[in-house]
Formats: sequence, structure tokens, C-alpha cells
Amino acid sequence: MRFAAIADVHGNHLALEAVLADIRKQGVTAIVNLGDCFSGPLTAGKTAEVLLGLDALTVRGNHDRYLIERAPEAMHVSDRAAHSELTDRHLEWLRGLPFSANYLDEVYLCHATPTDDNVYWLESVSVDGYVHLKPLEEIEALAAGIDFPLILCGHTHIPRAVRLSDGRLIVNPGSVGCPAYDDDLPHYHKVEAGHPFASYAILEKVGDHWLPAFRQVAYDHMAMAELAAQKGREEWASGLATGWLR
Ligand SMILES: [Fe+2]
Repeated sequence: MRFAAIADVHGNHLALEAVLADIRKQGVTAIVNLGDCFSGPLTAGKTAEVLLGLDALTVRGNHDRYLIERAPEAMHVSDRAAHSELTDRHLEWLRGLPFSANYLDEVYLCHATPTDDNVYWLESVSVDGYVHLKPLEEIEALAAGIDFPLILCGHTHIPRAVRLSDGRLIVNPGSVGCPAYDDDLPHYHKVEAGHPFASYAILEKVGDHWLPAFRQVAYDHMAMAELAAQKGREEWASGLATGWLR
């Protein structure tokens, strides 16, 4: 068994198309998507056309939820920018997404954690804004009752695999379209890939165990950085150009 996991596309259709091409090149045909599909100042409409056509098993991210729960004037600027590009058909697709899903009876999918779409599962944020691997006991507590050998989440944009003491594996494939962001909660912090490439993962069952292969894909990231700059989003422009926020 072998499939690809993508997450946190964030309305970057050039990164998405490069990742889909790389997935094909690897000979992988099955794809799952862990949400936060469109939010951002880039190309949400084109991204939606690609993702709706892909018909991959997809779970809803917190930013997908904001796009269907909030009035545009109450949205964060990145959600509002995406919303302005989406059609009723795109929004209807978002409304149909589940919070979590089961794939092949082997794999559990959620955007962030099994109970909250806006909580970091594998990382903690210290009061001085340092983002680090969460203690295993805390990660395991959030996995209580998730009886699947492979568990997939996104949300923090940090590619990472954590094996629990009972052998279950949690994998975050990283972000396809947004290599760096900052957030005020729970304390101001930055998440920076440190490179501008699009990230995803291929999961393969080898014997009784699932193995992740993390991949980074080059694409025309400067075109997206320039688009973000044109839209007055300098932090997005910096993240897309370099993988760092400056
Ligand atoms: Fe998210």
C-alpha cells in the first residue's frame, strides 16, 4: 500500500500542480488531503478547480471552516482574499468536507487533532515563541482512542513523523503552498520551513509498518512571491520567496 498525503495548500495552485506532477512521477496514484485548501492571498480559485477535479479524500481545516462559517467582512484578511475568488460550487465542496476520515481502514486523517481543528498536535509553543517537538506523553494523550496504525495531520506546516510507544505512527507531511507563517496564539511565534519548496509525503506500508518519505518540490515560487507582494502581503511574499519571514 502506497499513497501520497498533501496538506495546507493554502491557495497556491503552482505549488499544488508541481506536487501533483511529482506524485505522478513517483508512480503514486492515490492522494489524501489534510485541509486548509484555499486560505491566502494567492490563487484560491485556480487551486479550487484543481482540488475539486482531483477528487481526493479530503478533511476540513480550520481555515476551510472559517470560509464557510464567517461572513466575509468578519474574516481574517487571508481568508477574505481566498473567499473573494471562490464560487458557490467551491464553497459547497468545502461544506461537504468531513472533520476527520478513515482511509483503507488503516489510516486516520484529521487537519490538526482528533478533537480540535486549531490545536498543534506534535508541536508546543514556548512563551518566547520557540516551536518545538511536544513531549511524547502529551502527543499520546491526544491520540487516545484513535485505533489506526497510521495517523495523518497537518496544520503546523512542519513535516514530521512521531512514533508512539505502542507503534502507531503520526505523520504531518508539511505544507504544499505556505512554507512560512506567524501566529499570535498561544504566544507570538513563527513557523519557517527555511526553504521555499512545496512539501508533501508519500506513505508506504512495508511489512507491518508504515514508512513516511518526505519530499520537497521546486516550483516557480517567485511568481507566487511576486503575486503576494502585488497584493500587499509582504510576509507572504517573504515566506514564498525564501521560506523565512523577514
Ligand atoms: Fe490549519
